[in-house]
Amino acid sequence: MAFQSGQQQYQVLKGIDWEIKRGDIQLLMGPSGSGKTTLLSILAGLLTPTAGKVYLLGQDITSMSPRQLARFRRDNIGFIFQGFNLFPALTAAENIEVVLNIKGVRGARARYQAKALLEEVGLGLQANQKPRDLSGGQKQRVAIARALADNPPLIMADEPTAALDSQSGHTVIELLRRLAKEGGATVLMVTHDSRIIDAADRVTYLEDGMLWS
Ligand SMILES: Nc1ncnc2c1ncn2[C@@H]1O[C@H](COP(=O)(O)OP(=O)(O)OP(=O)(O)O)[C@@H](O)[C@H]1O
Ligand SMILES: [Mg+2]
Repeated sequence: MAFQSGQQQYQVLKGIDWEIKRGDIQLLMGPSGSGKTTLLSILAGLLTPTAGKVYLLGQDITSMSPRQLARFRRDNIGFIFQGFNLFPALTAAENIEVVLNIKGVRGARARYQAKALLEEVGLGLQANQKPRDLSGGQKQRVAIARALADNPPLIMADEPTAALDSQSGHTVIELLRRLAKEGGATVLMVTHDSRIIDAADRVTYLEDGMLWS
């Protein structure tokens, strides 16, 4: 991946050749500015690489049309962003329901599943609150519950526990671990959180745009 800035080409990622095992909790670590978010965005199909290919669940996402890619992402990837990306006008539960609706789960079933997901992340009592009435850690947990909606086989997360206190950090790690180990999901996470390392199957380092295992 190279970014153009004026006349200069700035190469962020160099010769990345990476295979992630299905069902693993795979961590990506590295210094600030090393390209972690860029790499994660490419692997999630949110950013098109300058060169190279990305295969997810055996499919080449880099050769999909924008429409095919959008559908693939909707059906297969739960993404937790570095910010929260919640809809400010919707309650915590509604933020999850809209995503379920997009995935084809509607009405009472969507309401029930949204409530159950919020309970799993310890926010059963906050279901009807809007993002402005939630703390940073609570917003992050809503974002996580939303990414888990409808059990996607791939979960990608950029610093999911950065804004959390140690108790809710643990809840989130435990939740992601259960999803991977019981649900068979593959979890790819960018993190600086040393607590997550214990729960991980594999840790890979990105430095100067190159990967080190
Ligand atoms: N759209 C863009 N245009 C130009 N340069 C960019 C763009 N996005 C990222 N970069 C540059 O690419 C490099 C890697 O950025 P990236 O956000 O991937 O780092 P990171 O490892 O996620 O850092 P952090 O740990 O601080 O989140 C940085 O030098 C950044 O300035
Ligand atoms: Mg980043």
